[in-house]
Amino acid sequence: MASKPPRDSELEAILEKVREVRNFDFRNYKRATLQRRIERRMQATRCRTRSAYLALLERDPVEVTTLVSSMLIKLTSFFRDREVWQTLEQSLVELIRQRPEKELRIWSAGCATGEEAYSLAIAAAEALGPGNPGPELKVFGTDVDEDAIATARRGVYSPEQLENVSPERLARFFVRTGNSYTVRKEIRRGVVFGVNNLVSDAPVSRIDLLLCRNVFIYLDSDLQKRVLARFQFALRRNGLLVLGRSELIPFAARLFRPVDLSRRIYRKDGDVEVSTTTQDRLPPEPSSLPRLIEPAVIDTERPFLRNLLDSQPCPTIATDNDGTVTLWNRAAARLWNRNEGDVLGKKLSALGLG
Ligand SMILES: C[S@@+](CC[C@H](N)C(=O)[O-])C[C@H]1O[C@@H](n2cnc3c(N)ncnc32)[C@H](O)[C@@H]1O
Repeated sequence: MASKPPRDSELEAILEKVREVRNFDFRNYKRATLQRRIERRMQATRCRTRSAYLALLERDPVEVTTLVSSMLIKLTSFFRDREVWQTLEQSLVELIRQRPEKELRIWSAGCATGEEAYSLAIAAAEALGPGNPGPELKVFGTDVDEDAIATARRGVYSPEQLENVSPERLARFFVRTGNSYTVRKEIRRGVVFGVNNLVSDAPVSRIDLLLCRNVFIYLDSDLQKRVLARFQFALRRNGLLVLGRSELIPFAARLFRPVDLSRRIYRKDGDVEVSTTTQDRLPPEPSSLPRLIEPAVIDTERPFLRNLLDSQPCPTIATDNDGTVTLWNRAAARLWNRNEGDVLGKKLSALGLG
C-alpha cells in the first residue's frame, strides 16, 4: 500500500491562513501546484523561507489575496482544444433539435476570464442559425475568482487573446475598439456571469451542456468526486458533461455514461441507485439548521424533487452503484450532524453512520 507523504506543516499553516483570511479552502487542491505558486510569491516578495512568507501573510492581508489569485490558475483561450469544439458544435446542433421552443441551458464552470463561456454562446448562435426561433439560449459562466468574473463581464479582449477566433467569427461576433475587441451585445445578452465556488455553492440547475475543463487537474481525487457528484444534480437527464483533455477521471465514468472518452464527453443517464434510510425517532430539531449549501449567486432555482426531499423529516441518502454518496438531504444532515458538502463523493460505508 502506498504510504502518504508526511504533511508539510509550513504549507499547511499557509493554507490555514488563506482559509482564515479569505475563507477559501485549498486543502484538497493538488500540493505540487500550490507549492510552485507559493514559491513564486516568495520570490516576488523576497521571502527566503516559508516561515518568513507566513509572517508576511500574517501582517499583510493584501498578500493573502494575491496568493489566492496566483493559486487559482486562470489560463484559458477562446475555442480551446479545437478538436473538442468540432464535436461540441455537432452536439449543440443536436441539443437545439431536441429542445425546440424550450430553454437550452449551458454552463461553463470554472470559466476564468470568460473566453470559454463566450465561445459556447458563439457556437450555439451558429448552431441555431439566422432567423431560427429555436430554444432560448442561456449560457452561465461561473468562477470562484471575482476579478476573473469582472473581466469576463467586460467582454473586452486583445488580439492575442483572440488568436483562435477565425476572421469570420471576429467580424460577426466582436466589435473593434482601438486595439481591442468587445463581444457583441447579441452574444453578451445570452451570457450570465457569476461568482460561484464549485465545492461549496449551490450548482446552477437544469443544465443541458456542462463544460468544466482544466479545473479538475488542480483538485485531489476526493474533491474531484465531490464536485462530480454535484454535477449529477446540475445536469438534466441526458445532459452532457465535458471535462478537459488532460482530465481522465475514472470516477466520472461511474456517475456518467462515457459518450466520447477521447474528448472527455459524458452523458447523464439518471441511472443512480437511491437508497432511503428512515429513523423512527429523529433528534430534536436544532434551532438553526446547518447551512447545507450557500445560496447560488446566479441561480437560486432548485429542482422540485430536491425541495421535496429537503422538506421531509425522513433522512434520505442516495448513492451510486458503488456506494458513493450522491445525495444527502437536510434531515440526514440533522441526524448525523454532517453537511452535504462534507459527504458528497465519499463512500457511505466509510462515514461510520452505525
Ligand atoms: C485553468 S482555468 C480553466 C478555464 C477554462 N475552463 C478553460 O478550460 O480554458 C481554471 C479555473 O478554475 C477556477 N477554479 C478553481 N477552483 C475553483 C472552485 N472551487 N470553484 C470555481 N472555480 C474554480 C479558477 O479560478 C480558474 O479560473
